[in-house]
Amino acid sequence: MSLSGNESRDGFSSRFGIICATAGSAIGLGNIWRFPYIVGESGGGAFLLIYLAFILLLGIPVMLSEFTIGRRGQRNALGSFKRLAPRKPWYLVGVMGIVAAFMILAFYSTIAGWTLEYVSKALTNAFAGKSPEEINLMFVNFHTGTFWPLLWQFAFMAMTAWIILSGVQKGIEKYAKVLMPFLVVLLVIMALRAITLPGSGEGLSFLFRPNFAAIDSGVVLAALGQAFFSLSIGMGTLITYGSYIRKENNLGNISVEVSLADTLIAILAGVAIFPAVFAFGLDPADGPGLIFTVLPNIFQQMPGGYFFAIVFFVLLTIAALTSSISILEVVVAYMTEELKLSRRKATIMAAMAAAFVGVFCTLSFGLLQDVTISGLHVFGLLDFTASNLLLPLGGLLIVLFVGWYLSSSVVRDEISSGGMFKARFFAVLMFVLKFIAPVAIAIVLFDSLGII
Ligand code: PHE
Repeated sequence: MSLSGNESRDGFSSRFGIICATAGSAIGLGNIWRFPYIVGESGGGAFLLIYLAFILLLGIPVMLSEFTIGRRGQRNALGSFKRLAPRKPWYLVGVMGIVAAFMILAFYSTIAGWTLEYVSKALTNAFAGKSPEEINLMFVNFHTGTFWPLLWQFAFMAMTAWIILSGVQKGIEKYAKVLMPFLVVLLVIMALRAITLPGSGEGLSFLFRPNFAAIDSGVVLAALGQAFFSLSIGMGTLITYGSYIRKENNLGNISVEVSLADTLIAILAGVAIFPAVFAFGLDPADGPGLIFTVLPNIFQQMPGGYFFAIVFFVLLTIAALTSSISILEVVVAYMTEELKLSRRKATIMAAMAAAFVGVFCTLSFGLLQDVTISGLHVFGLLDFTASNLLLPLGGLLIVLFVGWYLSSSVVRDEISSGGMFKARFFAVLMFVLKFIAPVAIAIVLFDSLGII
């Protein structure tokens, strides 16, 4: 039996389609919402340096490993491990990924719901003439509420499920293709507006001038978690997508290109946010609400701001959708292939379950804000557990699997597409996968947990 043949699975039709879908998964709220607020909480520049080092040293190798497992295994995150390592416990990495997918989908839909609310606020011109304080108050009033945050969260989850129901190729490829370049253009315009605001210089130095005094093991873990979250790695999303990639595509190039695009967009978001934070006298460590309290101020100061605000929040919603579908797809691919459920049933069940957990995330900013476990409310707890623990642990096991369990001839065969491409840097890659990446991830993870 050839494990790497393309059987009759649904797949990505073109190289451009894969890049778009993978970049669509990677680029999302992680870049524009999460990255700035984590940078803000972590003291700025020094965090950015560590983050970049993690993307290069760990992110790209883990991404390539996931693609390798998926394309070799030709199955979902769990099934690929079962197939490549029969009767071994490696499939538990897939199980962990499915758990992480549920958690992330739950809190992701909370924030995507906020984004939808801001589409509607932008449409009704709700930011016009408001001071930074009033814009802040508007956000507080909204996100501590019950009805609207939940309604928008359900709306977002329903959109995600609807796209998934229309199938891999048509569903994912079609939406990702056209719209992301527009988001980039818009971010550039917003960044230009932000850095020309009076008092914005402080923001740029916050982002780019490293202050190593701000670094402790918690910050290093946050950088690791953010790198994994932003690249969509560590939970089998890219194993699943890898299984849809055809043999004639070069996995190494795709990994590098997607990681680069993802990182550039995060930095671009940072350049739009931090100058504005300082120019408007706001607090960079404001937490998950950061973009919602900062960006409306920028739109106010832009010619055509009404129009830009609408387009921006719509595009952000779409960026969030191309990520959330990749998360739901992990669960649905598992349920259809391993549990033999119909795609329809699987999608509806998974989306409903994630929406149910999502209710608690959404309400943890209002009704349930006093319900905490070790100082974190439900939202914080799910985010921390999934992003900072499960993704790095998943990534650790994934590089160990590819570095040590798979034979290096199999890895070379997959990465070179059976000799079609030169596997440049192969020796370096194997060294990183065997030693550097697992040791680095383990140190960061176990150190911050107090295990070592
Ligand atoms: N990378 C996505 C983002 O930046 C989120 C995501 C995480 C998607 C994990 C898939 C898996 O928004």
